[in-house]
Amino acid sequence: MKVLGVDIGGSSLKGAPVDTKTGQLLAERHRIETPSRLSPAEMGAAIARMAAHFDWKGPVGVGFPGVVQGPFVRTSANLHPDFVNLDAAAVFEHAVGAEVSLVNDADAAGLAEATFGAGRGVKGAVLLLTFGTGVGSALFVDGILYPNTEFGHLKKNGESWEKLVSGAAKERRGLGYEAWAADVGEYLRELEALVWPDLIIAGGGISADHAKWFPHLKIRSKIVPAEFLNEAGLVGAALHAARAL
Ligand code: BGC
Repeated sequence: MKVLGVDIGGSSLKGAPVDTKTGQLLAERHRIETPSRLSPAEMGAAIARMAAHFDWKGPVGVGFPGVVQGPFVRTSANLHPDFVNLDAAAVFEHAVGAEVSLVNDADAAGLAEATFGAGRGVKGAVLLLTFGTGVGSALFVDGILYPNTEFGHLKKNGESWEKLVSGAAKERRGLGYEAWAADVGEYLRELEALVWPDLIIAGGGISADHAKWFPHLKIRSKIVPAEFLNEAGLVGAALHAARAL
């Protein structure tokens, strides 16, 4: 099946048509910057522009950075508050004029990695974390996803951990890799105590620089970078759509 995969991020949308049998992109990834917070209708229009860029008429899979239940978005920590409890799939379908399926962005990235990437064939508990605008999480047991884990919102001194350890937090706090990795290590040790992962997969743009920060983590689990790097989200959104639609 061929599906247009779209990954909604904090500052841009990324999209490409994906062959869901192989996980390969069928065209070069396209990026649409979203410097201001888009309302749901504006986001629908941006997804429609993405589809128009590829002259796409088929199904669309969208990864959204919040809790997703069926067509509904339930939380929106870093995007417009009007998404909360909205049937976003219906809004996007109206804008695009095609079937749209929705999935949490980190769950999408996890699906891509569990199916074709660093988690392929791995037994036991696999935890994928994305370090971008926020911190996303996806938990798999023997390849099966437990949806909507929100481990970026575990608390440290009353604040979400993502405020300390996301990629954006590293920039905002002006930290080098070693100092940032000290906090990431503490965060991962908390997660290890909760879910005892057999493997941790690190995604998000910053995973490309893994050699600079993995060595400073001081954790028990094996950790590897996401093989799809920054494309995991859009590939997984397409995979989810192929299963759901
Ligand atoms: C959201 C998650 C999302 C993560 C990464 C968090 O703020 O609550 O649902 O996966 O950011 O985008």
